[in-house]
Amino acid sequence: MVVIENAAYGHHELLYNRFMEPALQSAIHLLRLPPGSRGLDAGCGPGGVLHLLDNATGSVGHITGVDISPALLDMARQQVEQWKLDGRVSLACADLSQPLPFADDVFDWVWSADVLCSDGEARGFADPVEVIREFARVVKPGGTVAIFLGNRLGAMYLPGHAHLEQCLSTAIQLNYLKTGRFAPSFYHEPVLAWLRTAGLTHLKISAHIAEYQYPLKPDVRDYIREFIFAREYAPTPELKQRAHGVGLTEDEWATWVDISDPASPNYLLDSEDYYCVRFGTLATGHVLE
Ligand SMILES: C[S@@+](CC[C@H](N)C(=O)[O-])C[C@H]1O[C@@H](n2cnc3c(N)ncnc32)[C@H](O)[C@@H]1O
Repeated sequence: MVVIENAAYGHHELLYNRFMEPALQSAIHLLRLPPGSRGLDAGCGPGGVLHLLDNATGSVGHITGVDISPALLDMARQQVEQWKLDGRVSLACADLSQPLPFADDVFDWVWSADVLCSDGEARGFADPVEVIREFARVVKPGGTVAIFLGNRLGAMYLPGHAHLEQCLSTAIQLNYLKTGRFAPSFYHEPVLAWLRTAGLTHLKISAHIAEYQYPLKPDVRDYIREFIFAREYAPTPELKQRAHGVGLTEDEWATWVDISDPASPNYLLDSEDYYCVRFGTLATGHVLE
């Protein structure tokens, strides 16, 4: 089991949440959470979605956020303070791979974003279906279980450079595979099968996008600069070797080194024609009445 005790991870997650906010808002809106309802944010992390969920319940509901990481829960407490959610949000440490510390039928809905995945035990879940069974147990009959997964496979960050982006993307996937690290790129999960096997009904999948174009607002620019250009796609010798291995040319690599350098006159994020698109999927099911 991996417990994240790293505040830098929490900051990344919060920045990612702000980047994905249009997609998250759209997904949450689709849930039509009843005003005043009680919900569980399972694996709430540093709490970057709590204010969106609170807003969707008309700010008169109640949300319980649980996570396994005390460090991330501390950051979630700061979000509660920042967004003035006191009294409407409670936080608790809980391990989702164990029975939840709640009685049956106490919530109207469960929201869980970017927590469950099928690469299993390395991340603490031998079987996502068992976790979803627990979600269904604590939700009232007729209530909703919602699983949001931010998909990395279909992201478009490099407009006009499709082949370059495809090669870099495949190269980082290979890197993840090689190093045995968790691969967010492979978030194309059998989530409907999980929900169905856990006994939920009225299953639905929907896609929700975050789209931006120049000029980017600071959070969006920071996210792409820090976490995509300078981390995932950082032009290291290792990435270069892997990218060449999947068909990237020398010219394309030189282009990438140029357009990913903030000091270059060709820096992609400074182009007035820059845009990017990323999406997430929302899978929902109802607890049998
Ligand atoms: C990618 S983060 C997502 C956080 C949050 N849902 C969001 O959308 O920003 C995954 C979260 O799952 C939590 N997590 C992983 N395994 C867990 C477990 N077994 N029990 C509870 N939380 C867990 C991690 O601590 C982390 O906060």
